[in-house]
Amino acid sequence: MQFGSVRSVRKVFLANELGGGAQEDLVALDDASFDFDAGEFVSLLGPSGCGKTTLLRMVAGLTPRSGGSITINGKDVDGPYGDYGFVFQAPSLMPWRTVLQNVLFPMDVLKRNDSAAQGRARELLALVGLSDFASSRPHQLSGGMQQRVALCRALIHAPKLLLMDEPFGALDELTRLEMNDLLLKIRKETQASVLFVTHSISEAVYLADKVLVFSRRPARVVEQLSVSLGYPRSQAVRFTPEFTQAERRASEALGIVAPTAGAGLQ
Ligand SMILES: Nc1ncnc2c1ncn2[C@@H]1O[C@H](COP(=O)(O)OP(=O)(O)OP(=O)(O)O)[C@@H](O)[C@H]1O
Ligand SMILES: [Mg+2]
Repeated sequence: MQFGSVRSVRKVFLANELGGGAQEDLVALDDASFDFDAGEFVSLLGPSGCGKTTLLRMVAGLTPRSGGSITINGKDVDGPYGDYGFVFQAPSLMPWRTVLQNVLFPMDVLKRNDSAAQGRARELLALVGLSDFASSRPHQLSGGMQQRVALCRALIHAPKLLLMDEPFGALDELTRLEMNDLLLKIRKETQASVLFVTHSISEAVYLADKVLVFSRRPARVVEQLSVSLGYPRSQAVRFTPEFTQAERRASEALGIVAPTAGAGLQ
């Protein structure tokens, strides 16, 4: 069932907003379109500066769009709304709050920080293996642990949509692989739709049902690749011909490797 629709979305940053004496407007996205289903995991790949963060922010209603339409769960997006969780590249936790209080922060804002919410927060911390750190402060945690707290904070109000902007980009390879498996587990539990921006082709393929490849700025969707690897997925799938083939197709769409003669994109 279709959950989200991004139609001919355009974003222009006007010269007078850009500062630094910019003379020309900057077209970040032009005619970006894609759909996604309820519960679908969509990875977004594209060159640095092409407009992926801007697109996620427009889906969240945090940045106004210059044209086109975005519909989430049957409603037109025209400003921030409650029913999504956003995970940024940096965990951005509040240093004076405990881990548990950080996870519960959205419920404070929504005025729903009750005993049910506290129970859910503890469940989420258990799910990500941080039960013993509920009373710790962020500075007492490693980067990967902090990002797990940020993930719990994004999930505490049980959003149907999870927006993730290079959430594991700053982590070491091993922690990143562990976080990928954790995310697959959480996604199975919550059934949320996920839009996941990454620079890693391998991560994009490993996680997704569908990989969207964006062009250079002004960004458009140049390819939509469906990933036919089954679930549950485990790291061993990375060493299969199907996985390598999916990585190759994404690399071709990004223009990193020349297209294989006669190999049609799925
Ligand atoms: N608030 C803003 N004001 C002016 N220009 C902006 C603003 N936000 C983004 N831009 C410009 O829009 C373009 C796209 O930026 P964006 O951050 O969306 O790219 P990105 O694809 O997320 O890049 P990266 O992969 O490096 O994170 C860039 O040229 C950037 O300079
Ligand atoms: Mg970005």
